[in-house]
Amino acid sequence: MHPAFVKFIAPACVLAGLISSVAADTWGPAFSLGPTKGAVIGTSTTFIPGTPPADAETGLYLWIGISNATSGLIQSGVDQDADNSYCGATATEWCLSASYFGVGGQFNGPYVAVSGDTEIGIAYTLSGQTWTQTVTVGGKVVSTLTSEDGPLLNGGWGTGTECQQNCKGTTSIQKYLNSVIYLSEPDESFPNTLGVGQGVEYTPMETTDGGRNRAYYH
Ligand SMILES: *[C@@H]1O[C@H](CO)[C@@H](O)[C@H](O)[C@H]1NC(C)=O
Repeated sequence: MHPAFVKFIAPACVLAGLISSVAADTWGPAFSLGPTKGAVIGTSTTFIPGTPPADAETGLYLWIGISNATSGLIQSGVDQDADNSYCGATATEWCLSASYFGVGGQFNGPYVAVSGDTEIGIAYTLSGQTWTQTVTVGGKVVSTLTSEDGPLLNGGWGTGTECQQNCKGTTSIQKYLNSVIYLSEPDESFPNTLGVGQGVEYTPMETTDGGRNRAYYH
């Protein structure tokens, strides 16, 4: 573990609103933070994706992302395409995986099918230059993926509700619970970088260590 880090609960609870019916390539309301003065060096959250739309079209992608302006995007989450059989999902389930978009394109860890009320554990940890995404359901690891961007200097954190091609939008609420963001150095102004989309509800960010090596929980 990094010798000195800032740990932000950010936030304990985010409820992202719905994308209204859309034509193509649209983004739903996001909760985003950054850039930080130092680097983003880790995060964890519990993600509940909500019921997938009944009439699936390709594609709706919900993820938790960290990146900086020049890095790849670390983005574990759930996907719904018109045909989700590639992960064994039924029409009422999502395909869940670790995922990375960077030089060389999109890379995905193993896929599993999950229902909308599944509590998905998502953690991104850094060791040297290597990021590891760990996706869990019920404490069991279901998908992992590594990438090599190193500490995300001037990095940020955000929820992604991505609606591409013929996607019609979300039809349920997404929840991101007990989200924690680890920073390489104190940045008390990090909460001031918050961007909140229309309809997003959240509890304020907290830090109790002022940049020192102490944990805190909401
Ligand atoms: C993003 O982080 C990488 C890895 O530390 C760093 O090399 C790069 O300069 C950073 N980009 C920006 C825009 O800060």
